[in-house]
Amino acid sequence: MGILDGVDVPVVAAPMAGGTSTPELVAAVNGAGGLGFLAAGYKSAEAMAEQIQQTRALTSRDFGINVFVPDRDSAVPEARVAAYRERIAPEAERLGVEPGRAEWRDDDYSAKLDALLATPVPVVGFTFGCPEARDIALLRGAGSAVLVTVTTVAEARAAVEAGADVLCVQGAEAGGHQGSFVDDGERTVPTLDLLAQVRAAVDVPLVAAGGITGADGVRAALAGGAVAAQLGTAFLRSHESGAHPTHKKALADDRFTETAVTRAFSGRRARGLVNRFLR
Ligand SMILES: Cc1cc2nc3c(=O)[nH]c(=O)nc-3n(C[C@H](O)[C@H](O)[C@H](O)COP(=O)(O)O)c2cc1C
Repeated sequence: MGILDGVDVPVVAAPMAGGTSTPELVAAVNGAGGLGFLAAGYKSAEAMAEQIQQTRALTSRDFGINVFVPDRDSAVPEARVAAYRERIAPEAERLGVEPGRAEWRDDDYSAKLDALLATPVPVVGFTFGCPEARDIALLRGAGSAVLVTVTTVAEARAAVEAGADVLCVQGAEAGGHQGSFVDDGERTVPTLDLLAQVRAAVDVPLVAAGGITGADGVRAALAGGAVAAQLGTAFLRSHESGAHPTHKKALADDRFTETAVTRAFSGRRARGLVNRFLR
């Protein structure tokens, strides 16, 4: 089952958690011939199901849903979290907010899998890890194609071994979080280089992501052996994007032209615009 069956344009709208991906964006991308993706990250299973339902009402074409894989070994020493909390306290005070309390959560992972098995979506994508082979088999049995985001050749091999139908190969240029299985170091291999490495190692369709913003980039990804290009940042300022107006404005602001990888926002490495907080 190809994830691009019925897709006219080899462009995937990246799932973007935190409010950016909306049913309207998915429908607009589908309407333009690409493959739209919803983001379930940071949402409850119920909120995810609601967005799926809203999307179904707006488009009859295939779309994807992206789920975060919890990392059970990622507990950060409490003292380090407390130290960071202290460090950003003046910033919080300046903004009149309270830093949250740190707690480990699985992002409602099992409930989301149950919901996706009960009401299957054409493509189910995973980020920050690889699901159990058993869960991949169940999703495939329910009729979904399973995509896993990878950032190294080793992750690609593990995902294919576990039964993934498609890989999203995320290179170093990618905006947002680095989707590595384990938070064990910054990913620095550029998208097209990583695509070539992964292509030589595994034999499943690949979607290339990271730094692609237009037709030339899509063509380069296809020439490198990808079946499609996944674009995130390029959709952030669209009308249908749910990104905060402040973020939309900052992306077009000449004062913010640089990006960098930081742990400052969430603790996980992510690429963002360089601003005072990031510095
Ligand atoms: C604001 C934002 C949120 C993102 N959220 C997710 C997410 O929830 N799940 C995911 O798999 N990738 C997420 N990504 C990463 C994208 O899937 C993709 O790898 C990246 O956007 C590609 O690089 P580009 O932004 O240069 O196009 C996000 C990216 C951005 C910019």
